Amino acid sequence: MILVFGSLNIDLVAQVPVIPGAGRTVLAPSYQTHFGGKGANQAVAAARIAGPGQVRMAGCVGRDGFGDSAIENLKSNGVDTGLIVRADEPTGCAFITVDQAGENAITVASGANMAANAADLPAALFGTDVVLVLQMEVPFAQALQAAWRTTSASGTVIWNLAPVPDKMTREMVSDLLGITDYLLLNEHEAMDAAVAIGLAPSGYEAAATDLARTGDLTCIVTAGAQGALAVAADGTRLHAPAPRITPVDTTGAGDTFVGAFAAMVHEEVPLQTALQVGCEAAAQKCLVPGAQAGMPMRAKIPSLA
Ligand code: RIB
Ligand code: NA
Repeated sequence: MILVFGSLNIDLVAQVPVIPGAGRTVLAPSYQTHFGGKGANQAVAAARIAGPGQVRMAGCVGRDGFGDSAIENLKSNGVDTGLIVRADEPTGCAFITVDQAGENAITVASGANMAANAADLPAALFGTDVVLVLQMEVPFAQALQAAWRTTSASGTVIWNLAPVPDKMTREMVSDLLGITDYLLLNEHEAMDAAVAIGLAPSGYEAAATDLARTGDLTCIVTAGAQGALAVAADGTRLHAPAPRITPVDTTGAGDTFVGAFAAMVHEEVPLQTALQVGCEAAAQKCLVPGAQAGMPMRAKIPSLA
């Protein structure tokens, strides 16, 4: 089973001529509402590839209409929502501005996501077949707890270190590295994580090597058009190229990679295949606006055809 413990958000997206700085106001013609949240995005990406009934989402939404529709959306994507809890805080909401170059700025109002609690996960859930997927949009201590419970049952932990918290301590990164089997991050996050534990890598490839060795894990860095790099604890490297595309919206591309990768880890395919499937899925997502709409079904993934 693929178990995603993480955030569910509603994304409010406005296309702006320029992303406003402090004290500025810009007018956008309109806005769109999309389903988002890194946790929910990754659950949907995994379910589109692994198929219905293979993915369970755990997390927290409010007792509001946004919460209802976030749960409905997961259900209609074949994700089991039985572990999602309702809290008194409002459902998480992401305020996203996208400029003409496709660059975005995102403010996440966490709301109910901060009430996510690993103690809500029943003990019977955990076994050797669990592939747990974590991010950084629910309380870190709770994510860590879910990871410990998975590892204790000999399951597999995939941790996407995104977004990097404002105050990321050495202790946080050390704890995370100690419990994780596959660490997934982008170039910037890889540098930030390495710096947080006192390393000074020359670039993201060196950062990935340092993180993999330090955590005795496999570190995967997604580098946009440069594809994805995997470095094992012993320094062994693999690379998958990114398909060439002209992106319309990159929001959720990283999440698509993570979800697709988790589906592949669950199927126990070779790491090279998992990297390729991740890159192919992420590229297709970028052709459609919104975090989830462009996430491909299994049949649309060339490496799985
Ligand atoms: O990774 C993209 C996601 O980050 C968006 O869907 C938004 O909700 C934020 O959490
Ligand atoms: Na580890």
